[in-house]
Amino acid sequence: MKNEFILSNEYEKYSGQKLEMLIPEAEIKKRVRELAKQISEDYRGKVPIFIGILNGSFIFLSDLFREMSIDTEVDFIKISSYADETKSSGTVRLLKDISCDITERDVIVVEDIIDSGITIKFLKSRLQQSDASSVKFVSLLIKESTKIEFPIDYLGFKISDRYVVGYGLDLAQKLRNLKSIYAIK
Ligand code: IMP
Ligand code: MG
Repeated sequence: MKNEFILSNEYEKYSGQKLEMLIPEAEIKKRVRELAKQISEDYRGKVPIFIGILNGSFIFLSDLFREMSIDTEVDFIKISSYADETKSSGTVRLLKDISCDITERDVIVVEDIIDSGITIKFLKSRLQQSDASSVKFVSLLIKESTKIEFPIDYLGFKISDRYVVGYGLDLAQKLRNLKSIYAIK
C-alpha cells in the first residue's frame, strides 16, 4: 500500500508536494460502518432519503448507503462554493437541485467535509423551507476551526485545518480516487 504520494507537475502550483496519510482506508471503513449502524437504529421503522452533496460526497455516500440495514433512498444535489481552489469562494451556487419529493420525508444530507460551513448553512435554510418531516446532517469530516451555530447530527472525524484529498475529496477535481484520506504537506 502506498503511504505517500508526491504530486506530479500535472498539479501546477502544488507540484512536488507530498501527501501525508491522515486517515487510512481501514479506519474510514470502520467509522462508516459505525455511522450506518447508528443511523439505521435511529431511523428504524422509517425510510430516510439520503441527499448527497455532489461531487465530493459520492464515495462516502455509496459506502454509507451500502452499510445501512434499513430501507434507504438516495438523491443528489450539486452545490459549488469552491472554484477549483483550496479556499472557499464565500458564495454558494446551486448547480443541480434534488429531483425527488421530500414532502413529509425524513431527509439526511450527506456531506464529505465541512470547512467554512457555508454549504451546510445554505442547505439547512433551504431545506427548512421544505415540507420534509425531518432534516439531519451527516458529514464524514469537519475541520477544527469550523464554526456553525447548529450541531451536525452524525460526524465521522474532526480534523486539523489542512486541505485534504482522497475518498471523494479533490484537488482541482483530481485525487478523489485515493482510498485513504491525505493532507497536503
Ligand atoms: P464549506 O462550504 O466551506 O463548508 O465547504 C464545503 C465544501 O468544500 C465541501 O463539500 C468540499 O467539497 C469542499 N472542501 C472543503 N474543505 C476541503 C478540503 O480540505 N479538501 C477538499 N475539499 C474541501
Ligand atoms: Mg462538497
